Amino acid sequence: MAKKTVEDVDVAGKRVLVRVDFNVPLDASGRVTDTTRIRGALPTIRYLIAHSARVVLMSHLGRPNGKFVEGLRMAPVAKALADLLGRPVATAGDCVSPDVEAQVAAMQPGDVLLLENLRFHPERSEGPAVARSLARLGDVYVNDAFGTAHRAHASTAGVAEYLPAVAGFLMQKELQYIGQVIEEPARPFVAVIGGAKVSDKVRVLDRLLERVDALLLGGGMACTFLKAQGHEIGQSLLDAGHLDYARGLLAKWPNKIALPVDVVVAERVEAGAPSKVVAVDAVPPDWRILDIGPQTSANFTGYVRSAGTVLWNGTMGVAEIPDFAAGTQRLAEAMALSDAVTVVGGGDTAAAVEQMELADRMTHVSTGGGASLELLEGHVLPGVAALADK
Ligand code: 3PG
Repeated sequence: MAKKTVEDVDVAGKRVLVRVDFNVPLDASGRVTDTTRIRGALPTIRYLIAHSARVVLMSHLGRPNGKFVEGLRMAPVAKALADLLGRPVATAGDCVSPDVEAQVAAMQPGDVLLLENLRFHPERSEGPAVARSLARLGDVYVNDAFGTAHRAHASTAGVAEYLPAVAGFLMQKELQYIGQVIEEPARPFVAVIGGAKVSDKVRVLDRLLERVDALLLGGGMACTFLKAQGHEIGQSLLDAGHLDYARGLLAKWPNKIALPVDVVVAERVEAGAPSKVVAVDAVPPDWRILDIGPQTSANFTGYVRSAGTVLWNGTMGVAEIPDFAAGTQRLAEAMALSDAVTVVGGGDTAAAVEQMELADRMTHVSTGGGASLELLEGHVLPGVAALADK
């Protein structure tokens, strides 16, 4: 898995095209609310500036699915990066166009430019034509976007066919930490999976179950499994397409999967909405599950206390609303106190841990959610495979 890094190529005076994962949360006014991923890329960016590169950064933000969305422009991200770097970060009107090429051609050593959201146009994400256009913006390609390394897009993999391709420092660090968990996890190895991106994560569970000693399910993911178990889940998040799959996993791994036994339900996903704790077989039809309950938290933290390794991906409830954050908070606290190797992955999960000021108490907070899961599942990530080996 060892890859060449920015230190293995000559970047002085070169246009260095860097794929970063600046898919960060924004508030209603468009301000970046969690800078973890931006801070994660700073060592690479600072190194390139210090070595007189012309630094051309590119990222996606959200899932605009090929449409221009004013609220998903990169400008607020460029501002957050400029504040952290303490130097200007220019923005562009697009990610590939003759104008952008001219803008890049005018850059001086040490300048930093952040291209516009790669996902504003569908053809920007995929395909060799896009990869070729992106490659015209650089002499060297650096992938520091571990969080997006599981996507085989032009910016994460395709461009590597046209330029010397190396890893950034964040990518290198992530591969090292997660590699350790894959190769020799201290046991018992406990995985806690939650969050709302159910269909993205559900596929990895089977392979994960082969590696772990226990799999604890919370968040939106748990609702599909509770339904598969025969419980009514009211208006909760449901991945109906994976119900049979969930039933199959419950039948195959009855002793490894732990599900909530009680949950916090509410009438609406809203701070202050009427809410209560109920057993999983008593969810009212018009209500929805928005957090795990206290008994479930006690069960889950028990697993964490006796674990050798804990891998956590996905919040236990709608953690950005304090009324539904208790399950996530209790889990984070138990992990912070545990002597186990603790690896936290996923944008929302990392943000929650950061907000609780517990990030320093974890062994590693990964900037990649889906990417870290796919690595653990045994996949070779396209964004990693594309980079030159050491
Ligand atoms: C993430 O937030 O998991 C990465 O940035 C990848 O985003 P995606 O799931 O929209 O491809």
